[in-house]
Amino acid sequence: MKFRRASLITALNLFSSTIVNSGKVEYKRVLLTTENKDPFRASDIIKNENYIFFYPYHNIPVLLLDLNKTIEPSKVEQSGDGMSYIHPGGAGINKSIVAYVSICNHALVRPNSEKTLIKYYPPGERSVLYGGDSVICCCAHGSVYNPSDAGKVLQSPAEHPLTAVELEWDSQSDFMYARGLIGREPPFKEVFKEEGEGRLILESAPVKRLIDYTKKIVRC
Ligand code: FES
Repeated sequence: MKFRRASLITALNLFSSTIVNSGKVEYKRVLLTTENKDPFRASDIIKNENYIFFYPYHNIPVLLLDLNKTIEPSKVEQSGDGMSYIHPGGAGINKSIVAYVSICNHALVRPNSEKTLIKYYPPGERSVLYGGDSVICCCAHGSVYNPSDAGKVLQSPAEHPLTAVELEWDSQSDFMYARGLIGREPPFKEVFKEEGEGRLILESAPVKRLIDYTKKIVRC
């Protein structure tokens, strides 16, 4: 019985995403909401604050950031597997809002409710480990990513950019939606092995400030 259920989940998951082209995978378009299930508006976002939501599975964390500057589309040339793709740039009225799967590509460190080692350091909050700000830094072993440029790696040991989440902004309502992933597939299998099979997010994804989600944020 367990096996049949697992097979069914796997089959459903396979049909839940659509590979659009190299580097882009569409998942269910879901509304970003507050914890009370009200729509989370782009204008609700505090600039340069770290926010978290989970997408496309309930145990895949995503960092949501308003970088307070226009983020232009950017081409990513992948090393290793040779895949390249276009990051679409920022969403919202100023094209300043971006989202990245918050799983470090080095050893899969990710935020949890107890502790967070990976976060965005906004202008004025220097990462000692990197020697600068405006970066996403993973304190586990010092990987640094550039959220203003498609999540590209600025400092190893990570070798690949963070996977981006495709955002959609409705200019009439100011609502925001997540609708897919851009870039390398996140290490779903490894996460599911550690935390159990992921449940697909199908309707809405509540957004929280990172400081309200996790007990301890490690800075480096
Ligand atoms: S897990 Fe992030 S740098 Fe190693």
